[in-house]
Amino acid sequence: MNIVSYQARRRHLLAQMQAQGGGIAIIPTAHEMTRNSDNFFPFRHDSYFYYLSGFTEPEAVIVLIANGSEQRSILFCREKNMEREIWDGFRFGPAAAREHFGFDASFAIDALDGELPILLGDAPNLFYSSGCDPQFDTRLHGWMDAVRAKSRSGISAPTTTIDVRELLNEMRVRKDASEIELMQKAASISGAAHTRAMQMAQPGRYEYELEAELLHEFRRQGSQAPAYGSIVATGANACILHYSSNNAQIKDGDLILIDAGCEFDSYASDITRTFPANGRFSEAQKILYQIVLASQQAALDCAHPGSRYMDGHHAAVRVLTQGMLDTGLLDRNKVGHVDDAIASAAFRQFYMHGTGHWLGLDVHDAGAYRETEKIGDEKPYRQLEAGMVITIEPGIYVRPAAGVPEQFWNIGIRIEDDILITQDGHLNLSRDTPKTIAEIESVMKR
Ligand code: GLY
Ligand code: MN
Ligand code: MN
Repeated sequence: MNIVSYQARRRHLLAQMQAQGGGIAIIPTAHEMTRNSDNFFPFRHDSYFYYLSGFTEPEAVIVLIANGSEQRSILFCREKNMEREIWDGFRFGPAAAREHFGFDASFAIDALDGELPILLGDAPNLFYSSGCDPQFDTRLHGWMDAVRAKSRSGISAPTTTIDVRELLNEMRVRKDASEIELMQKAASISGAAHTRAMQMAQPGRYEYELEAELLHEFRRQGSQAPAYGSIVATGANACILHYSSNNAQIKDGDLILIDAGCEFDSYASDITRTFPANGRFSEAQKILYQIVLASQQAALDCAHPGSRYMDGHHAAVRVLTQGMLDTGLLDRNKVGHVDDAIASAAFRQFYMHGTGHWLGLDVHDAGAYRETEKIGDEKPYRQLEAGMVITIEPGIYVRPAAGVPEQFWNIGIRIEDDILITQDGHLNLSRDTPKTIAEIESVMKR
């Protein structure tokens, strides 16, 4: 992405700040986290900070000033430091960072305590997300106190705080062309990784061996990191929704559920496929797989501008619930017809999560799911628009229980794709990942 996009985003945010009376926005990046002595967890910048800058170093803060015709964007970042650069690598330093990332001004991060009380002085509003970073909140309180101490000089501190993330969420929920390009790349790499894992799977191998295949493909194709912890779940482990051990041996006759996606240039993908360890679905596995696949298609049919966010979930639940009744997972004599089983939420015994989420810089991305105004007692789910990206990920998870047909016990199936809403419908970003029974069996044969 070029710096013009980031500058345009900052200008857009500044215009919104001005429309609310002007003031100062303060957006810090994430902290480096110690893992143990002298070791850090891999650093990942804050997504809001990155969205406005493209800057990936730790210890940095964006300050935006909207003061009538005076609009400024300022970056605070680490100074150049030859010794640290020898140990840890390149740092831009304020001067080069200002130039490279198109800020109006830049300061060393150590100047924050001196500059912020000046910049906060007489700002009408403070645009900041308190509660997200307690350490930074404390520093901000100190700067605000320093401004208040100047009240005899006629300088006042902002009296209103507006959550800057609320403004940014609305921007982030609609992806621009350069973001879509990166998300397509992330999804394509992840699709190749899923295919590779399918081809390497066989009874006797371990879940972590398939995880290694995923990571190999992610990294081989230039992804910087997984977008979240990969789930590689064989057999009954597939019924654990956030399974993370990935250490069990794969058995003949198991289905393997893999939920894994890479991050590419900070953008996430999130794909789930479920396939047979030995390359052939059993009859019972086929029956449930086709139900989940049909439920995903029902949700996909709702993925177009104008339909409401939850329409896809409701459509998927209807197909899943009908399937549960047809297969005897749900007992008609106990739960009644499909409408009754939906109304009583009986389907939740086998499908207990939502059908998707926003996807973008974060795997569960920013953005409101509902409108801001209530109609009657509640806020309606918002309408989908071109440029939004969602996942669609229905599933069925069958834990052994009395009355549940034994042939389905311990089968867990989820199918998840990454869907861009377009002007005339949608584009499946993960379309190249084998999905039908025929596609999966064919890929695994090779
Ligand atoms: N992999 C996380 C999710 O599917 O939401
Ligand atoms: Mn997901
Ligand atoms: Mn997922």
